[in-house]
Amino acid sequence: MKKNNESSSSFPIGETAQEKRYSHAPECYKLQPFDRPRPNTEIADIPIIDMEGMCDDPMRRIKVVQDIGNACKLSGFFQVVNHGISQPILDGAISTAARFFDLPTKEKEKFMSNEVHEPVRYGTSIQDGLDKVQFWRVFLKQYAHPLKEWVHLWPNNPPEYRQKMGDYAVAVQKMAIDIMGAITESLGLGPTYLTTKLDDGMQVMFVNCYPRCSQPELALGLPPHTDYTCITIVLQNSADGLEIRDLGDGSWRLIPLVRSALQVNVGDYLEVLSNGRYKSVVHRVTLNNEKARISISSLHSLGMDVKMESAKELVDEEHPKGYKESSFNDFLDFISKNNLEEEKSFLKTVKIQK
Ligand code: OGA
Ligand code: NI
Repeated sequence: MKKNNESSSSFPIGETAQEKRYSHAPECYKLQPFDRPRPNTEIADIPIIDMEGMCDDPMRRIKVVQDIGNACKLSGFFQVVNHGISQPILDGAISTAARFFDLPTKEKEKFMSNEVHEPVRYGTSIQDGLDKVQFWRVFLKQYAHPLKEWVHLWPNNPPEYRQKMGDYAVAVQKMAIDIMGAITESLGLGPTYLTTKLDDGMQVMFVNCYPRCSQPELALGLPPHTDYTCITIVLQNSADGLEIRDLGDGSWRLIPLVRSALQVNVGDYLEVLSNGRYKSVVHRVTLNNEKARISISSLHSLGMDVKMESAKELVDEEHPKGYKESSFNDFLDFISKNNLEEEKSFLKTVKIQK
């Protein structure tokens, strides 16, 4: 069956509407009315945390740890500034990502794969053949830590890609460990509770491009989902689109653009570790009609086969164990058979029904 014509139910990777820069959204991208984004979404009221002095000034640290703990509890999301990653490193990662997506399809095709276990893969759908609707996204997934183990598999076109993306990857991995130290401290587990496991763990980066779409009210870049990670750190260019579902009233809220800030969200692993004190935040990506949105999300978790479980210190009579233990590999096996739909998320399968 020829799949790449407009009336077909889906477009294969390399032939999608977003890669071909269609000016409209074909049928298979259109969401059910209830799932469509609403215009003029309210801006999320999320904390901006100044990380200055967090690691070397004990008084500042107390305050930052408290702020991060509150942010995890109340919104599952925060932005960080003065995080120590320089503007040239941030700009370099975004610009090399944009140049990669501008390459002709045949260059990107080298990385095409639907196999979720591949350490580097280019794709467009969430799960080809399983998605009910298609999403207006193009991405390159890449494993990143330790860098020397993976960087030779990354694109070398554009020529500066490995250097610029590598500089950012190393900086953001270090930052993730620092932030997780503050988070475990806020849970009463101490600042180094997970340091070694994270340092020996996985960093999976999604380099995303959401091309402009003339019908942003009909389609999405990414459907509502949570991330299978301890925390995700997102760097974005000057186009917004990331929305979170408010932990309080369940409405969608847009993450505001703050120059040089990085976006941090609680992931499934942290919900498990904290035994439900911190909730993995549901988020999605909306589109716009003006310019392509580039984002780089960096997901930080434990080693491939290392099981995450709720910290024993956080399980007691009043807070019975709420989650089964699971590893990153368990998650990959799960998503290779299921799609990313929220109602069937991996997190739900590890929750212990009460
Ligand atoms: C993701 C994600 C958000 C974004 O890659 O899981 O949610 O802004 N990305 O692209
Ligand atoms: Ni996500």
